[in-house]
Parts: sequence; C-alpha cells; structure tokens
Amino acid sequence: MRARLIGGAALAALLTAPAAAEDFGGLPEGEGQEEVFYNCSYCHSLRTVTAQHLSRSRWGRILDEMVQVQGMPELEEDTRAAIHDYLVEHFGFEGED
Ligand code: HEC
Repeated sequence: MRARLIGGAALAALLTAPAAAEDFGGLPEGEGQEEVFYNCSYCHSLRTVTAQHLSRSRWGRILDEMVQVQGMPELEEDTRAAIHDYLVEHFGFEGED
C-alpha cells in the first residue's frame, strides 16, 4: 500500500488540536488550572464550577461532596490542595460564609 500524504487541511487540524487542549476550557491561567480541567470537566461542564464564588470552607465541602455523593474518585492530597487553592483564588468569595 502506498502512503498517502496528509492534505493541508488535515495537517492544519492536527497542528491546532494540541493548542485547543492547552486552553484548558478557558479556565483562568494559574497553578491548579490543569488539575481542575482534567478532574472537574468530565462529569459536568466547567461552567458548573466557574459559575460559583465560594469561600475556602465551602469549596472544601464541594470537593468532599463530589467524592462522597457524586462518585468522583478520591483525589491525591497534593492534587486536591492545588485544586482547592485554585478555586479559592479564582472563584473565591470574601464575605460571610
Ligand atoms: C464523578 C462525576 C463528577 C466529577 C468528577 C465532578 N463532579 Fe461536580 N458534580 C457532579 C454532579 C452529578 C453534580 C450535580 C449535578 C450537576 O450540577 O451537574 C455536580 C455538581 C457540582 C457543583 C454544583 C454545586 C453542587 O453542590 O451541586 C459544583 C460547584 C461542582 N460539581 C464542582 C466540581 C469540582 C470543582 C470538581 C473537580 C474537583 C467536580 N465537580 C468534579 C459530578 C461530578
């Protein structure tokens, strides 16, 4: 069988695909961005996460709830910490809990 050259359009698609993945669903850049993207976007939209503005303790409760109620696999301790810090920094809430 003769190898076929990849057409220009297909090649362009191949080259731009990784760039789309690096966008991490449009999450704000920062430490923990990648962890949130990979751990929080396969059951529901990232909008479910980014629509919230919660205190540190409420984000902690959400993370527990995802594991205990929604069936998310338990996160490694440092992954959970990175996600928790990221959520508080970018989707936090300063005020009464
Ligand atoms: C195993 C599937 C699963 C994973 C993984 C998951 N969630 Fe959820 N999550 C759900 C379900 C189911 C709901 C409730 C229905 C809905 O809103 O889609 C939910 C709802 C939510 C809500 C809305 C408020 C609430 O309490 O219902 C937030 C905020 C949330 N998830 C955050 C996260 C974050 C942050 C992560 C990553 C650390 C995550 N989820 C990962 C399944 C999951």
